Amino acid sequence: MSLIDQIDKTKVPQHIAIIMDGNGRWAKQQGENRIYGHYEGVNSVRDVVEGAGQSGVKFITLYAFSTENWNRPKEEVDALMELLVSTISMETEKLHKKNVRLQAIGNLNSLPPACLAELNESIDLTSKNTGLTLVLALSYSSKWEIINAIKQIAVDVKNGKIESEDISEENIDHYLCTKDIPDPELMIRTSGEHRISNFLLWQLAYAEFYFTETLWPDFRKEDLFTAILNYQNRERRFGKTSEQLTQPSE
Ligand code: FPP
Repeated sequence: MSLIDQIDKTKVPQHIAIIMDGNGRWAKQQGENRIYGHYEGVNSVRDVVEGAGQSGVKFITLYAFSTENWNRPKEEVDALMELLVSTISMETEKLHKKNVRLQAIGNLNSLPPACLAELNESIDLTSKNTGLTLVLALSYSSKWEIINAIKQIAVDVKNGKIESEDISEENIDHYLCTKDIPDPELMIRTSGEHRISNFLLWQLAYAEFYFTETLWPDFRKEDLFTAILNYQNRERRFGKTSEQLTQPSE
């Protein structure tokens, strides 16, 4: 039986978040420069987005560019920005036809104007689509997002819009970039690194983590299906005991 047919369609994670790592090392293994690895990484993005749609996932968030990535050599940053613009511009029609809705989280105003314009155009075009939601994390870092949320909450408390006693998990959710997006149940990181790297720190509180040695340019939809199958074999307890999960509640 193929991997996708082994997936229990009633227990597919609604939201999968992915740290796409290893492009640079993959390129080095091929004797190429790092930028070549990022270009190859786009093929993985295409395949994985298709696989997510096929498996019934509703949201997929890709960590495409972190706040910390601005510190890379200028040549690499420029190439990544160009790659983002060209990929978004080339793929939007196809995404739209497949009913995919594009969204982005992060400090989007720090992106080069051409990149932001292309992104906004695609987001607008696909905004009414009802299939998979593809969320690109761009110039994103979770600490930046949380600081932003705290600043906005402080302003709203000062203006009397909310009372400090009313600050709750739910209204903190509302101040994050992900306010309309359910928390990921599964986080995948490629390339053998076991870190969370400032990605969705609040939203991943109860997520299952899946780490694979595969470098991002080698990652394909079959690897995504393997991760989903692995997730489906785990017991998610949310702080409860195993017995509480299996016994009917009184
Ligand atoms: C991490 O690998 C990857 C990135 C920082 C960029 C990811 C970007 C893409 C896959 C292409 C564009 C994506 C979209 C959504 C259009 P690394 O460079 O840190 O690899 P290394 O750890 O081996 O050096």
